[in-house]
Amino acid sequence: MLVTLTEAMAPLPDRRQALAAFNVFGYEDAAAIIAAAEELDVPVALMANKLALSHMPVAVIGALLCEMARRARVPVVVHLDHATDFVTVMQAVTAGFTSVMFDGSQLPLAQNIAQTREVCRAAHACGVSVEAEVGSVGYADGTAAHAERTTPEIAAAFEAETAPDALAISVGTVHRMTEGVARIDFALMDKVVATLRTPAVIHGASGVSDEDLHRLVVHGARKINIGTALRVAFGRVLRAEMEAHPGEFDRLKFYGPCMRAVTAMAREKILAMNAG
Ligand code: G3H
Ligand code: ZN
Repeated sequence: MLVTLTEAMAPLPDRRQALAAFNVFGYEDAAAIIAAAEELDVPVALMANKLALSHMPVAVIGALLCEMARRARVPVVVHLDHATDFVTVMQAVTAGFTSVMFDGSQLPLAQNIAQTREVCRAAHACGVSVEAEVGSVGYADGTAAHAERTTPEIAAAFEAETAPDALAISVGTVHRMTEGVARIDFALMDKVVATLRTPAVIHGASGVSDEDLHRLVVHGARKINIGTALRVAFGRVLRAEMEAHPGEFDRLKFYGPCMRAVTAMAREKILAMNAG
C-alpha cells in the first residue's frame, strides 16, 4: 500500500517504534526490503537519493517504486532523499513520490528556511509529505559537506518558520559509516526533541550500533535512515558469489543471494530499532 510519510508515521507508538527508511537503487533492494517489512508487518520507507537518480530517471524509479509499494502488504512510503533543489523535488512529486526531503543543510539558515517553506507550500499542495534538515549530518567518505550539530534554539526557530512533516537533526551520526561506532549525544537529542512538535529524523544510521538504534527510538526518533549497511550487505555477497562462480555470466543467478542478504540486514535493523 502506497502511503505518505505522515500516514506511515502517524500510527507508530511514540518512543517505541520508528519508521525504518532505507536507501534503494533499483528493483532488487526495494523488493528485498519490502520482504523484510512484510515479514515483520511494519511500514517502511524506500528512499531514492541523488546517486539512484543519476542511474535511473526519476520518473522511471518513481513509477517502479510506487507500483511495488501498491503491491506491498504493508504501508510503503516512496521518498526522495536529500534533494537540494526545487526542480528535483517537483520532478519527484510529478513521478508519484509520496514524500520528499529538501536538504538545505548546506545553506545559510535564512536560505534553508526560505527554500524549505517554498518546497512545503508546493509539495503540500500536491498531498506530498516534506522532510527538512536543520543542523547538518556530515559524511565519513569524503563527500564535501559541512557538519554541524543541531541546537534546540535553531531547531525551534526553524520549525516556527517552516512547516515540514518531519525534521532531520544532527546529534552525532555521520553518513556512510561501515561500522556501528557513532557516538550519539543523547543529552543534546533530548533537548532538541523536547523543543520540537515535528517528528525527528535520524540520518546516517548505518553507523549506529543495534543497541543505540533502539535508544534513538526511546529518545524520540520517529524515522531512522539507513543506506550504507544494505549496500555493504548486497555488495559483499555479490563479490563472494562472483568469485565462487567465475564461469557464471547470468546476473539473475547472483541476485537471489544478494537480495536475501539485504532482507536479512533490513530485518536486523528493523528489529533492533523496535526492540523491547
Ligand atoms: O539519507 C540517507 C541516510 O541518512 C543513510 O545514511 O548510508 O550512512 O546509513 P547511511
Ligand atoms: Zn541522509
